[in-house]
Amino acid sequence: MTYVQQTAGDNRPVRLGLIGAGWIGAFHAESVARRIPNARLDAIADPALPAAEALAGQLGVARITADPADVIGDPDIDAVLVASPARFHSGLIAAAARAGKDVFCEKPGGRTVEELDEALAAADAAGVNVQFGFNRRFAADFAAARRLIDDGAVGTPQLLRSLTRDPGTAAGISSPERIAPGTIFLETLIHDFDTLNWLNPGAVPVKVHAVADALVAPEAKAGGLLDTAVVTVTYSNGAIAVAEANFNALYGYDVRGEVFGSAGMVAVGGPQASSAVSYTAAGIASDTVRLNIHLFHDAYTAELARFVEGVAARRAGRAAGAAVPGGVDARNALAVALAAIRSHESGLPVDVSAVAHLQAAEPELQPTELHLTGLHSAGLHSTGQGA
Ligand SMILES: NC(=O)c1ccc[n+]([C@@H]2O[C@H](COP(=O)([O-])OP(=O)(O)OC[C@H]3O[C@@H](n4cnc5c(N)ncnc54)[C@H](O)[C@@H]3O)[C@@H](O)[C@H]2O)c1
Repeated sequence: MTYVQQTAGDNRPVRLGLIGAGWIGAFHAESVARRIPNARLDAIADPALPAAEALAGQLGVARITADPADVIGDPDIDAVLVASPARFHSGLIAAAARAGKDVFCEKPGGRTVEELDEALAAADAAGVNVQFGFNRRFAADFAAARRLIDDGAVGTPQLLRSLTRDPGTAAGISSPERIAPGTIFLETLIHDFDTLNWLNPGAVPVKVHAVADALVAPEAKAGGLLDTAVVTVTYSNGAIAVAEANFNALYGYDVRGEVFGSAGMVAVGGPQASSAVSYTAAGIASDTVRLNIHLFHDAYTAELARFVEGVAARRAGRAAGAAVPGGVDARNALAVALAAIRSHESGLPVDVSAVAHLQAAEPELQPTELHLTGLHSAGLHSTGQGA
């Protein structure tokens, strides 16, 4: 379909279609419906129609379909949000681009650099923007860390660290057999790889070395499960980074970053739900966050608000600027994730210097009209842990 260019001053809400109504798709749908005033969710596609029906019912979305092509081809939809399983991402980006739609796509952008490149080429040819779901960049504390780094607080970066510990239970991982091989690199640590790339501006990853195991659910290792991993990434500026992940942190959802350099250190993140700490006879305790949609509630909203602003600008014929995090960022993070898989398999470091490219310069953040509601308040669980 042809993209309809509106005149400047077009105040109609941006009309979005969601592809994939699962865990994160449902949360993005809710963000659009409740927290992004200049956007509207008009259609939902999911081959599991009951998932689309249930979400549409909750949010009052009129159009549902089992076929993503219906949303992509709908002339009344301005842009699509892709939250399907990763194996469909590149194909959906390419199809949406050919239909003239801007795309917000969850990570990873694809399963191979080649298929992602094809999708990005289709987006370039169509002149549409593709933004990827590296939400940590939109978290206030991570964004502040990047500003400090830009302002010289760490000097020349020498050591970087990024970690993801997914929340767990005493029973371990509920269905380890349902976690596809490679998930810890392609779907979990890919956030850390993007964070490390982003917190080391002006440098690109050159060498990747990974060690991984199934320590939480060893019985699932034969089926390909890896639930614990450490990856070192060496950068073109000489900095050495460590990314680590585990699928079963009993104390909460723990995401942290650190950049250490010639002038100092910036550290960010942690699982505390707030700065409140109780000091009692039992010890020192604070509540922790248990879910990604709570820890990154505002960041998920802000990344979509940024995407919507870009779509609105392009629709109105104004310069939208390149989407950030965009194709180069998705590609670099994917290249590191795929290299980590190869390194784990071979036991050897893997060179990614031929694949990784320098990140796009960060555009100035535009003031947004976003009115955030219900900030980071719901669903925080008390653990009463001793510290
Ligand atoms: N940014 C983040 O923090 C974050 C968090 C969670 C998930 N994710 C990513 O989002 C994606 C989805 O993850 P999830 O946890 O929501 O998965 P999920 O399994 O809960 O949901 C996926 C949904 O997509 C539907 N689906 C299957 N095939 C489809 C197709 N061809 N087209 C459209 N929909 C299809 C499924 O029926 C399901 O409803 C993954 O790539 C994941 O890595 C990102």
